[in-house]
Amino acid sequence: MKKNILITGGAGFIGSHLTRLFVTKYPECHIVNLDKLTYAGNLENLRDIEHAPNYTFVKGDIENMEQVRSLFAQYQFDGVLHCAAESHVDRSISDPLAFVKTNVLGTVTVLTVAKDAWKDNFDGKLFYHISTDEVYGSLGAEGFFTEETSYDPRSPYSASKASSDHFVRAFYHTYHLPVIISNCSNNYGPYHFPEKLIPLCIHNIINNKPLPIYGKGENVRDWLFVEDHVSAIDTIFHQGKIGETYNIGGHNEWKNIDIIRELCRQMDVKLDREKDTSAKLITFVKDRAGHDLRYAIDATKLSKELGWKPSLQFEEGLSKTIDWYLQNEDWLNDVTSGNYQKYYEKMYGDR
Ligand code: NAD
Ligand code: TYD
Repeated sequence: MKKNILITGGAGFIGSHLTRLFVTKYPECHIVNLDKLTYAGNLENLRDIEHAPNYTFVKGDIENMEQVRSLFAQYQFDGVLHCAAESHVDRSISDPLAFVKTNVLGTVTVLTVAKDAWKDNFDGKLFYHISTDEVYGSLGAEGFFTEETSYDPRSPYSASKASSDHFVRAFYHTYHLPVIISNCSNNYGPYHFPEKLIPLCIHNIINNKPLPIYGKGENVRDWLFVEDHVSAIDTIFHQGKIGETYNIGGHNEWKNIDIIRELCRQMDVKLDREKDTSAKLITFVKDRAGHDLRYAIDATKLSKELGWKPSLQFEEGLSKTIDWYLQNEDWLNDVTSGNYQKYYEKMYGDR
């Protein structure tokens, strides 16, 4: 059992669910969350566990080797769950270098520190890298991504994640650093930053604003509820084989236009609006540059070898997600108004 675990990027969407799961499920473990609190990191996401005795938050940057080294010295980590990243494809198209810095340089920095800290004894240590199915590129109408699919990233985001995956494997082969990688499909759920398709459209439906659908809305994504993703990470972290890669997904493919129609249908009912009110907000806009057509994950290895299965059907997960956003409009208004970032600037300054 690992006792001291570093989670990077634990104030983000997936990281906050992962941190909550580990802090509450493993009270005997000490969880340190290292997060830079970029626009995507929000301590409100962790309000319910912030005072837990086995949890420590540290504001910091995975690119800062000295800081990461001193954290390793202070806490003697035996596990790392590396979640910190720049994660939005559209932002990577406007600023690719930011993605190289965080996703590539930041990952290599944490890998180097872990290797140096653990080099005398790798037994019982694990560097777990959380990655994406986007590294595999784009599928046509048929087929699935397996763990053997060749990498073919096409956006600056996926290229930076592919590069970080390669470095993780390089550290395994070259230095024997104990690593595991998982590549997951699109997540959705509470605390998802409203720049991504589903929370953006929930926010816009609430506010009667247009729902921007890129191109014809024919692109397909394979959606997994975020709590199912972190339960898969938990399973792999504790039972996965060192040096292996695991694909995570729930066999749940949707065309963008269909998912938004389903969202509109459910929100009309929940907001007590006349049928088809929200669908009138659908607006087709210019396509994303290099827009990948289809992602679909084959997660057979994970289910056969480790027995993991997703817990939720999509319509149910989407309904839970909408309910959360409707009950947490303050969170949504705060992150869309940028209030929370002003607060952090005041609280932490340049620290
Ligand atoms: P997110 O953008 O919501 O959160 C990223 C977190 O990392 C934020 O809290 C941010 O403050 C922090 N961060 C960014 N740069 C940092 C730095 N230099 N130092 C320390 N912290 C930093 O991202 P997410 O959607 O939660 O994704 C988390 C991970 O999961 C990423 O590695 C992403 O590639 C991967 N992933 C995401 C999805 C998805 O659908 N969102 C699917 C598969 C894999
Ligand atoms: P997104 O949530 O950005 O995730 P990813 O690009 O990592 O898959 O986008 C999901 C899909 O929705 C993708 O095909 C792009 C599309 N999309 C829109 O049509 N409109 C939007 O405003 C956004 C943000 C995404």
